[in-house]
Amino acid sequence: MSTTDPAAQAQALREQLHYHAHRYYVLDDPQIPDAEYDRLFRELQAIEEAHPELLTPDSPTQRVLGRVLEGLTPVRHAVPMLSIRTETDTEATGAIAFDVRVRKELGLTEADPPVEYAAELKFDGLAMNLRYEDGKLKHAATRGDGEVGEDVTHSIYTIRQIPLELHGKGSHPPVLEVRGEVYMRRDDFERMNEAQREKGEKTFVNPRNAAAGAVRQLDSAITARRPLSFYAYGLGEVQGWDQPATHSAVLDALERLGQPVSKERVVVQGAQGLVDFHARIAQVRDELPFDIDGIVYKVNSLELQKRLGFVSREPRWAVAHKYPAQEQVTLLRDIEIQVGRTGKLTPVAKLQPVFVGGTTVSNATLHNVFEMRRKRVRKGDQVIVRRAGDVIPEVVGVVPTPRAHYVPNFKMPAQCPVCGSTVVREKGEVAYRCTGGLFCAAQRTEAILHFAQRRAMDIEGLGDKLVRQLVDGGIVRTLPELYKLGVAKLAELDRMGGKSAQNLVDALDKSRGTTLPRFLYGLGIRHVGETTAKDLAKHFGKLDALMDATLEQLLEVPDVGPIVAQSVRTFFEQPHNREVVEQLRAAGIHWPEHEPAERAAPLPFAGKTFVLTGTLPTLKREEAKERIEAVGGKVSGSVSKKTDYVVAGEEAGGKLDKARELGVAILDEAGLLSLLAS
Ligand code: IVH
Repeated sequence: MSTTDPAAQAQALREQLHYHAHRYYVLDDPQIPDAEYDRLFRELQAIEEAHPELLTPDSPTQRVLGRVLEGLTPVRHAVPMLSIRTETDTEATGAIAFDVRVRKELGLTEADPPVEYAAELKFDGLAMNLRYEDGKLKHAATRGDGEVGEDVTHSIYTIRQIPLELHGKGSHPPVLEVRGEVYMRRDDFERMNEAQREKGEKTFVNPRNAAAGAVRQLDSAITARRPLSFYAYGLGEVQGWDQPATHSAVLDALERLGQPVSKERVVVQGAQGLVDFHARIAQVRDELPFDIDGIVYKVNSLELQKRLGFVSREPRWAVAHKYPAQEQVTLLRDIEIQVGRTGKLTPVAKLQPVFVGGTTVSNATLHNVFEMRRKRVRKGDQVIVRRAGDVIPEVVGVVPTPRAHYVPNFKMPAQCPVCGSTVVREKGEVAYRCTGGLFCAAQRTEAILHFAQRRAMDIEGLGDKLVRQLVDGGIVRTLPELYKLGVAKLAELDRMGGKSAQNLVDALDKSRGTTLPRFLYGLGIRHVGETTAKDLAKHFGKLDALMDATLEQLLEVPDVGPIVAQSVRTFFEQPHNREVVEQLRAAGIHWPEHEPAERAAPLPFAGKTFVLTGTLPTLKREEAKERIEAVGGKVSGSVSKKTDYVVAGEEAGGKLDKARELGVAILDEAGLLSLLAS
């Protein structure tokens, strides 16, 4: 930036940030990477911190800063915020009845041409009035009772889609009120609820409630953490604006002024176009990223709207045509447990079948027992079921009704309903899990994929699709059965020729010779990652010693705490898991074992540091590392005075030079192998 005047700098940055925020949040078409946006943002923040007098309320930096209010201030709407008449017919009659009424009111006969209508989505959020004066957002208010709403400007500042200043060159009208809907996207809602659930905290019933709660927060720092969105759909008070002649042109104009306007809208002639739009959106309703509860039909000409006027508090020129509700009440007949791919147990509601969000639902998730307790859900209750989009149907609440007799709280089973293994819940977690990872039918696919991965048994060619085929086809039920697969059987599978079948059998065969850490990691014991597997293998030396280790013995392993120790213990306590391990050994899987670390003489290379550089003739980098670590050595990434050996292969570069400079011992692969053998 050429200018050094901080006021000019701040102004320029604000304009840039407004521009890029609009590209990102409204147009979904960012021009600069997020990091660049953040950099500009921080630059502006720094100037404002150094010169607080330059801070303006509409600065982009003010959108996330918290401001706590005592209470919300009432605002009288210049033009009342009305509601619209609702048609609940799911048939075409909703649109046709509306058209008949409009034509009658306008005194049209069959000889007259069709009326032009605008149709758009009915967003399921909360209505908002945004008042812009001379192009600047002056305040934002909820609908309230239609006459008086609440000032929620502080919350609206956190919605990045809403421009704080209207776009467009030249002067702006003295007053322009934009009306629209604040809503929460379904994915944002799910993410937020999932985070609440993990913390064991209260979840929100639906995106609309979550959005309404967020907007009415007194502390805008809390609102800023609740991801809200906005769509404009109309006008309030307008002064000094050359208003277009139709509603659709008003929306186009609002879009040019920087307001988010949904693309899903049409202008049609007569009722049939409305019927078609209603039917088309019904087809894609589930795929929309947000909830809608219907379609709004509006007479497009503003002149005709004026002529039609209002009845009581509803305009005659608009109507809402609803879709089937996304929440319904039904009987909770029973509660069952579902075991997920990773062993997580989820309580599932068996419901009296009910039509929700366009389909019949008879199962819905209850998420976890803690949530069930909070919501006071018990068998026999009338529950509220929500099904929206492709999200799994869920029980979001209970209709409080007296119970005829005492019903105990639901309890998680102590044994996995699929495989009978022990069920555990770790401290601080809400999830209950099955510990029969190697044996449990629900967890087969995941167990095999984990076992086969490169960093575990490294079975080349055994990927996601193939494992699914093997498991779903009942060809492989447990890990050891992998090693019984023959070329002929494999070659029968989809997309599998004789050559790839042979390759897989070879890869399986090759994986038989492994290391104890890889094997341990491959078992998929909860909390046993690669590093812990190495620590355990090093400490116990032999698998049997580890399998029989007590909790106290496990706790002696460096870096192993109570959670890991308990997890290892529980895993090997399951007879089925032990059986699978035995079968794997019987299938020929082997690894070098050594004496346990405590009793063995200290490993010969304990405390020695190696650096690997360049390409070795036969050993892969990972193999060389494993061999060095097996004798107690450590592999480091950079050469220093503390380095004991540099192992150099072909095309070794700077590290080799550095080793020479510091006088560190240099080995080639042969040198390394004979050193380790000594
Ligand atoms: S027009 C005078 N258009 O539905 C007519 N309303 O009762 C003003 N809504 O809570 C409303 N999407 O917030 C209109 N595309 C849309 C809408 C919409 C949702 C809400 C509105 C109000 C209710 C109408």
